[in-house]
Amino acid sequence: MISIKNRKADHINICANERVAPGYCYWNDIRLFHNALPEVNADDIDMSCHIFGKRLEFPLIVTAITGGFDGAVKINSNIAEACAELGIGMGVGSERAGINGVHPESYSVVKEYDVPLVIGNVGAPQLVDQKSKDKFSNDMVGQAMDLIDADIMAVHLNFLQEVVQPEGDTNAEGCRDAIRGLALEYPILVKETGAGISRDVAIRIKGIGIQGIDVAGMGGTSFSAVELYRARDAYDNIRTGMGETFFDWGIPAPVSLMEAGCSGLPLIASGGVLNGLHVANSIALGATCAGVANAILREAMVSAEAVIEKLTIIREELKAAMLLTGSPDLKTLSKTRHVVLGETRKWMESQ
Ligand SMILES: Cc1cc2nc3c(=O)[nH]c(=O)nc-3n(C[C@H](O)[C@H](O)[C@H](O)COP(=O)(O)O)c2cc1C
Repeated sequence: MISIKNRKADHINICANERVAPGYCYWNDIRLFHNALPEVNADDIDMSCHIFGKRLEFPLIVTAITGGFDGAVKINSNIAEACAELGIGMGVGSERAGINGVHPESYSVVKEYDVPLVIGNVGAPQLVDQKSKDKFSNDMVGQAMDLIDADIMAVHLNFLQEVVQPEGDTNAEGCRDAIRGLALEYPILVKETGAGISRDVAIRIKGIGIQGIDVAGMGGTSFSAVELYRARDAYDNIRTGMGETFFDWGIPAPVSLMEAGCSGLPLIASGGVLNGLHVANSIALGATCAGVANAILREAMVSAEAVIEKLTIIREELKAAMLLTGSPDLKTLSKTRHVVLGETRKWMESQ
């Protein structure tokens, strides 16, 4: 039975053990044209990318997962070791707990590794007044950056989760201005958490000084699903019903990526990315790099070696896709011919 005492631990256990994704794989709807005569040697393929002023060995970031409970030390340590070893980026989970003194070491552990891009994390709902809770000041965001020596701070938009979970922070007015205020002081990126960014939202946030968007679209982890399992365990029928109803709420990740393209900002493609072909597909659709969370979670609970192996498979699959499309580098891959099929195409055509 899932304990409701520690929300962070619940999230990890639920995401590792329950079905939290809607089931349809939107990334498989993107098909790249095969190049039978690629004229490039696999060993010469350059998969490196630059984002937020940092160079990654291949275009992948392990996005925010955890922090703030004792079990998170091992998970973040395993992820950080793997990302340092392979030369890719990582984010930590929401740092609210850490800067309130709850297991700060579960975040700061990433400082022990030479990760090329470290991303902090705070929630947009915590930047505005929420009934009885104190809001985050700009100084607290600075403390959150210092806790992990962050290169950039991700502000997450998670209103799907907030509206489904008991006592969620559902005041959303003023978030955009609060993010604008933060962006005057710190490098900021805006991320969703599994429901995607629409064109309208991308337009509304592109001019407020942020440096990038992680679209985190629908198709992977659904926080409605996650909260459904917690509500069920607490015999909360209302929240259980809401969790079921909104299980697959959101904009499919590839659709969201195409929508956010109008911002002209660097884009992280995430939400249901499971393998290196999905990463290749996202680059072909305009992403600067891709992001994974749930795809490496079980490995992160085991060891750094397990995470390295999983991420190496993704890297080698990306390299294979680049060879098979005749792409010596990511710029060429971004221009490779592709088609969009299935449900993703239906989404695009029905607007
Ligand atoms: C266990 C778990 C905890 C998460 N916690 C956070 C968080 O604290 N802050 C955040 O911005 N996103 C959080 N996310 C969302 C991920 O960063 C990502 O946007 C989302 O899971 C979609 O990616 P995926 O389909 O690859 O899992 C979490 C995801 C998981 C699986």
